[in-house]
Amino acid sequence: MIELPRVIGHRGVAAHAPENTLAGFKAAAGFGLDWVEFDVRLSRDGVPVLLHDDTLERTTNGTGPVVAQTVSELKRLDAGAWFDPRFAGESVLTLAEALDAIHELGMRPNIEIKTNPGEAWRTGRVVGATLDEAWPPGRPRPLVSSFVLRCLMGFRQERPDLPTGLNVWRRSRWQWSLGAGILGSVSVHFSERHVTDAQIRAVKAAGRQVVCYTVNDAAKARSLYARGVDAVFTDAPEIILPVADKIQP
Ligand code: G3P
Ligand code: MG
Repeated sequence: MIELPRVIGHRGVAAHAPENTLAGFKAAAGFGLDWVEFDVRLSRDGVPVLLHDDTLERTTNGTGPVVAQTVSELKRLDAGAWFDPRFAGESVLTLAEALDAIHELGMRPNIEIKTNPGEAWRTGRVVGATLDEAWPPGRPRPLVSSFVLRCLMGFRQERPDLPTGLNVWRRSRWQWSLGAGILGSVSVHFSERHVTDAQIRAVKAAGRQVVCYTVNDAAKARSLYARGVDAVFTDAPEIILPVADKIQP
């Protein structure tokens, strides 16, 4: 069992630096966060890279689907200038590069697996295989999560020893519970807008942790913690940390 902290940086800390970049991880460490979440998907040549969307337009100066480009093509893109010109020159990170940086910064990773169409199982397996070398035994364990059960099943085929978290899209009566049970997940991650008290109770009764995404409002965080939520993902730790510090574990 791993114990998650009250506050997890979201895509690095996405309010302060371009998401899923080295600058974002440095900013997260600067806030004193112990964990950061980021998103990975496969390049055309099967390398896990840190990109949230399935297309490049929003977070880079590239165009088209991520899956149409090789990792060396993706590495030539700028992943920072769209956020602010002072971040020009940030590159698209590979999973291995991100894990190195996060370890160097003294943090732990929550790797969220995204999938290109039809690649869920394979993406999970590749992420698992990448961790064999990129996150050596002896380091504190990472958390690997996804909205897509097949990603996590593929991951567990490679690395049944590592903890998983299941992301849940919206209100759902039973699918998430079944999925978390099949996976033996340590945590279930709900939208802060849709999570219900019944879901919180059920997850905790099963011995798992409840995490909510994405919380950037102090009153909302206070209310979620009071309802039993264990941790939140945030883009803005300066807003959430003061609230979290007042909560007794
Ligand atoms: O992993 C939690 C959260 O990041 C899920 O949503 O769309 O921000 O990846 P998204
Ligand atoms: Mg994510």
